[in-house]
Amino acid sequence: MIFVTGGAGFIGGNFVLDWILGDTPMSQQDSVLNIDKLTYAGNLETLASIKNQAKHVFMHADVADRARMSQLFKEYQPKAVLHFAAESHVDRSIHGPGDFIQTNIVGTFNLLEATRAYWSDLPSDQKADFRFLHVSTDEVYGTLSPTDPAFKETNAYEPNSPYAASKAASDHLVRAWHHTYGLPVLTTNCSNNYGPYHFPEKLIPLCILNAINGKPLPIYGDGQQVRDWLYVKDHCTAIRTVLEKGTPGQTYNIGGWNEKANIDVVKQICQILDEIKPKLDGTSYANQITFVKDRPGHDRRYAIDASKIERELGWKPKETFETGIRKTVQWYLDHPEWVEGVVSGNYRQWIDLQYATPKA
Ligand code: NAD
Ligand code: DAU
Repeated sequence: MIFVTGGAGFIGGNFVLDWILGDTPMSQQDSVLNIDKLTYAGNLETLASIKNQAKHVFMHADVADRARMSQLFKEYQPKAVLHFAAESHVDRSIHGPGDFIQTNIVGTFNLLEATRAYWSDLPSDQKADFRFLHVSTDEVYGTLSPTDPAFKETNAYEPNSPYAASKAASDHLVRAWHHTYGLPVLTTNCSNNYGPYHFPEKLIPLCILNAINGKPLPIYGDGQQVRDWLYVKDHCTAIRTVLEKGTPGQTYNIGGWNEKANIDVVKQICQILDEIKPKLDGTSYANQITFVKDRPGHDRRYAIDASKIERELGWKPKETFETGIRKTVQWYLDHPEWVEGVVSGNYRQWIDLQYATPKA
């Protein structure tokens, strides 16, 4: 049994689906206890295809609830914890940082403490094999100028948003639990993911759905901010690789070697839609691009140097941005029922709040 926290969200959900439905024969596969609070970002529809799989157990719980976590450790005796659960949207962290402090920092602290209590009492062989894998972000490193080298694991932490600061704090806690208590931890710092089941508050799914619904495609500021995009399935294989082969106490940067300016990402989505779902009036979806007020403290450029994980663990991404974005656009066209399910009243309130401000 492994624990996956946040397994009803975007990356955790993709990870659990790949784990349960992937190539490993079922008999050799560890079961998953999927622990998720089901915030606005958690969606059981994502897990519909594994609803009846005996090797997947869903547990509605908050990682910050230490007593509950301790009880789950006692009951299920996992050999690893994969910690995805977090508040993950930068804009939400600007509007209301409290939930980010609570889940990303206090939640990680409580989960670490429950893990430590369980791990300390394990027999020595199981103790040595146990892993706590903390899923983190490149945003902890701050921002790059156009000519700076990409982020390495040795870069200083310089987080700029409440979200990034909360993730940086959680990374520090995980590191300290290794150095002080010997907990066998692994930390991954990944760049921007995209792909199926991505909540439509984030740039790529938001623009795909707004485009086909005839709505504006909102670009913050001048649209020249650069992100390094990784197809989510590649992130999932990287995490699995780190879990299997990573050295406890080490951190691994994960990225797609795909730096793109936001405006170019959105134009590429429009081009694909023009090709596979042309508008009836013959105009391009790119006409819906609208420049809006910039995000406060908006980091200009992220780029990941993923050479350590390739050199030491043999992982590299399979998808290019061109192949991954095409699959992603097609996935959203093919899954309107999933989109319907996640676009709840709460989400609509968020959209009204975030995009109510006038044009830049
Ligand atoms: P997400 O917002 O889509 O999903 C987060 C999940 O965590 C949801 O299912 C939510 O219900 C759950 N959750 C939130 N608070 C919880 C709590 N207190 N207890 C239990 N469950 C809780 O996020 P995501 O994009 O899938 O990101 C997953 C992880 O990967 C996060 O730690 C994030 O920081 C990190 N990350 C994300 C990206 C990205 O591009 N999305 C890139 C690098 C790292
Ligand atoms: O870098 C990894 C991070 O990537 C993860 O840690 C975060 O959890 C994840 O949300 C993501 O953060 P970003 O802020 O980079 O992603 P987002 O999709 O919100 O924005 C991507 C870029 O697009 C960013 O420069 C802001 C811009 N943007 C975003 C939205 C939602 C727009 O121009 N318009 C928009 O409407």
